[in-house]
Amino acid sequence: MSDKTVTLTDPATQLSAALPVVAGSLGDPAIDIGKLNKETGYFTFDPGFMATAATRSSVTFIDGEKGVLLYRGYPIEQLAKQSSFLEVAYLLMNGELPDATQFSAFEHEITHHTMMHEALKNFLHGFHYDAHPMAMLCASIASLSAFYHDTLDMNDPEQRRLAAIRLIAKMPTIAAATYRYSIGWPIRYPRNNLEYVTRFLHMMFEVPSEPLNLSPVAAKALDLLFILHADHEQNASTSTVRLVGSTGANPYACVAAGIAALWGPAHGGANEAVLKMLAEIGDAKNVGKAVEKAKDKNSGFRLMGFGHRVYKNFDPRATIIREMCHKVLADLNVSDPLLDVAMELEQAALKDSYFVERKLYPNVDFYSGIIYKALKIPTELFTVMFAIARTAGWVAHWLEQHNDPETKIGRPRQIYTGATPRDYVAIGKR
Ligand code: SDX
Repeated sequence: MSDKTVTLTDPATQLSAALPVVAGSLGDPAIDIGKLNKETGYFTFDPGFMATAATRSSVTFIDGEKGVLLYRGYPIEQLAKQSSFLEVAYLLMNGELPDATQFSAFEHEITHHTMMHEALKNFLHGFHYDAHPMAMLCASIASLSAFYHDTLDMNDPEQRRLAAIRLIAKMPTIAAATYRYSIGWPIRYPRNNLEYVTRFLHMMFEVPSEPLNLSPVAAKALDLLFILHADHEQNASTSTVRLVGSTGANPYACVAAGIAALWGPAHGGANEAVLKMLAEIGDAKNVGKAVEKAKDKNSGFRLMGFGHRVYKNFDPRATIIREMCHKVLADLNVSDPLLDVAMELEQAALKDSYFVERKLYPNVDFYSGIIYKALKIPTELFTVMFAIARTAGWVAHWLEQHNDPETKIGRPRQIYTGATPRDYVAIGKR
């Protein structure tokens, strides 16, 4: 806490309020407005929280101007090159990289919590076969609170930790089960002899009739995508998890709320929307028309995968994923014309003043779908992939929130624009 203050003055009322400044280890300082209304009678107004810090956090740092992303201080570029998703999940949850013993214990615990309750299979059978996997995932994760009564006491740190482990461990199993149900294949049980991502791919694609030849390139590519999607400070879905968590709701309900928020096309649903947009554009020669349409406010069309609330520079994750695209497609000997459309679209947008002036760059969702497609992940499951990875961030923030003495129930105020007081009129007199 700094001892610096800023003064708010209102000449009309001779108001002068000294407001404390709050500074962190990195990033812009903030004005603590906790006492603003009591001292001045004013609220602040900030739809979409464009300039509002909702909490202190030490999990992830983003510098939007410089395109910097740190998980617990480690640059995303280094973690992408040298770490694994499960090690990043440990780092996000615990604040430090594990040593070999710690990682082995963590991996063993995750591996032995991957099974889902058999009753959940009946749950899935209640859905129509073509239900969107995000609907099935959201409902299934919310239902976990009905199966795990031993991790519902939010005051018990060990129950909170175990719930976090269960969520990281079971998300891939349940995600794969929604896919298998939707294509009418038998659900595959998690194989404990496989590592986290390979185990997921096995549950997704292994069929009883023949052994699965899993490409190590596919597992490595998906592991990298999971690292890049693991956390992103106070994004919409993480803020949702924190808001639900601030009421004392159980972690399964919190993460289910996060999944629901992630589903939106303005957020995690963008990766699915990007692929549909690229398919609609169809050919590089149609890119100019798409760019013009995205600039026309009346079209209601936006370039999905472009723009970001925080990054006003390249999203560092997009840069890594773009490089990955070429390598993964080459390694898998896949050629995808949509990659050519994406690259043409990126070049056209980055040369257009509308996008340059608004600092609209490709974000994490712009290229990821091309890799998911090359890995034979169906488009409807792209946001499910995002949810599997982001579970590591959601539980890290949820645990942090429960250890934060400043945590209070989240309850924003409003600017009321409705009717002023008026008397009821009997129906016969209206
Ligand atoms: C994610 O927050 C996170 O960290 C999210 C995320 C994470 O890891 O958790 O990074 C993941 O959600 C990435 C974003 C995925 N969404 C999309 O790709 C959808 C397309 N992009 C947008 O809808 C938009 O850019 C947002 C939602 C990402 C950001 O919206 P903002 O910050 O509220 O910006 P805005 O809507 O106010 O736009 C500012 C201007 C507007 O024009 P003007 O009113 O100034 O004339 O830019 C325009 C917008 O019309 N604009 C776009 C555009 N995005 C913004 N115009 C065309 N195409 C776009 N994609």
